[in-house]
Amino acid sequence: MITKLIAPSVLAADFANLQRDVEMINQSEADWFHIDIMDGVFVPNISFGMPVLQAINKHAQKTIDVHLMIVDPDRYIKEFASLGANILTVHYEACTHLHRTLQAIKAEGMKAGVALNPHTNVDLLKDVINDIDLVCIMSVNPGFGGQSFIENTYSKVRQLKEIIAGSGAATLIEIDGGVTDKNAAKLVEAGADVLVAGSYVFKAKDQLETIKGLKKLANS
Ligand code: DX5
Ligand code: ZN
Repeated sequence: MITKLIAPSVLAADFANLQRDVEMINQSEADWFHIDIMDGVFVPNISFGMPVLQAINKHAQKTIDVHLMIVDPDRYIKEFASLGANILTVHYEACTHLHRTLQAIKAEGMKAGVALNPHTNVDLLKDVINDIDLVCIMSVNPGFGGQSFIENTYSKVRQLKEIIAGSGAATLIEIDGGVTDKNAAKLVEAGADVLVAGSYVFKAKDQLETIKGLKKLANS
């Protein structure tokens, strides 16, 4: 069985102790670092930008999965590649020429991801599915950590899984928002490959154990 991956979201880390939290993820059973970049335009919140990613990259020893919640992401593709992003995910809703954007991401040597807002139908990706390495299904409205999981996500995951299977693509399905021990196993059962978890991990008393538990649930 293919291993299902856990990607803690650094948005929920303690920024005054960022190196400590990055080291925690290094030591844990997590697979990726999930990095949320918000511009205050595409989403109603500003998170952090390039200097913080650079600082994370200095210590991170795992795949860096960057989730851009910004308008016109093409402007920054080269810069994110140079800052160490391994996967660069743009929002479907922020790209007028999605196919071109995906090619530009790959030309910089990164894996190309597309994120879908809760209202965006997975069918819209049918014509480009073979060009996408990862689809990030938002299970909350993007912009903030700590929101409640939207139940309709399961059906979106199942639909997307069918599209991927039908196309023969190797696209991974990532779930982002409100992931906990309550929905992890069900999400994997529906077809998820990667689970992003922010507050569930960082609010826990024992973060290493929480990640371990999530990974176990995802792979049971
Ligand atoms: C939301 C971000 C998520 C967020 C997840 O806009 O894209 O990655 O950090 O946080 P939780 O797990 O707390 O919902
Ligand atoms: Zn995210």
